[in-house]
Amino acid sequence: MFQALDSKEKRIVVDAMLEVNFKPGESVIKQGEDGDVLYVVDSGKLDCSRKFSPEADETFLKTYVPGESFGELALLYNAPRAATIVCKEASVCFSLDRACFNHIVKDSAMKKRERYEKFLAKVPVLESLDIYERAKICDCLQSQTYEAGDFVITEGDCGNTFFLLEEGQAQALKKSSSGEQKVVFEYKENDYFGELSLLRDEPRAASIKATTNVKVAWIDRLAFKRILGPLENILERNADRYARFMKDRGILN
Ligand code: CMP
Ligand code: CMP
Repeated sequence: MFQALDSKEKRIVVDAMLEVNFKPGESVIKQGEDGDVLYVVDSGKLDCSRKFSPEADETFLKTYVPGESFGELALLYNAPRAATIVCKEASVCFSLDRACFNHIVKDSAMKKRERYEKFLAKVPVLESLDIYERAKICDCLQSQTYEAGDFVITEGDCGNTFFLLEEGQAQALKKSSSGEQKVVFEYKENDYFGELSLLRDEPRAASIKATTNVKVAWIDRLAFKRILGPLENILERNADRYARFMKDRGILN
């Protein structure tokens, strides 16, 4: 939400925030009400739930922990609160009001969401996520370009980022026991790489080389764990595509 801000804007936002304390069981946001502030969690835990129809029971969605923010939807889209937030453990949050949000954060946050939403809708592995989960990914994405021949990932390095390929093509390369680098996978737009070291806490299992000029969108380990948690099983299952690719091409590991 705040990543697109420059340091001067961040300072203004921090200065405009007010500390608010919540006790366990206290209601922070009620679904359907008007909302004028968003919150950043400094300490404690807060539960988020939602009624998907007026007659339905509350469905638990997630627990907010320090570093996360909530309550932005009412401000971004001028809509009633889309979910209910109740304090789970004594919490300290910082609130930011609509005036400061509109003035400093809204434009850049909206632009970022609009820019990445179109791209993420085309990424097959993200199909099962809902619009809200995709919007959260948009907030955390950063783009970077590489020239043909550049290495985006080097085998054996420690890995802290997950990549989506926005534009261009790339190859995965792995060193064989004789030291020779072999192509073990090929990527085109809307694919992803760099998931294994985050899922398995292992060094990078291959190198990724740009074969054309490429543009990637990446998120860091923390955001990957927080936002792409629901996809971990799918990503782990998909990893057998590497073995299949190598078998099809007769490449020995
Ligand atoms: P807002 O609608 O302003 O207030 C409720 C908040 O709950 C909402 O902003 C989001 O920050 C948060 N939330 C978390 N998960 C969801 C979800 N799946 N749908 C809607 N809001 C959600
Ligand atoms: P990671 O290990 O984080 O970084 C290198 C990435 O290369 C890896 O995640 C996979 O996304 C990708 N990759 C492609 N082919 C292979 C392969 N045959 N073995 C391991 N990783 C591969």
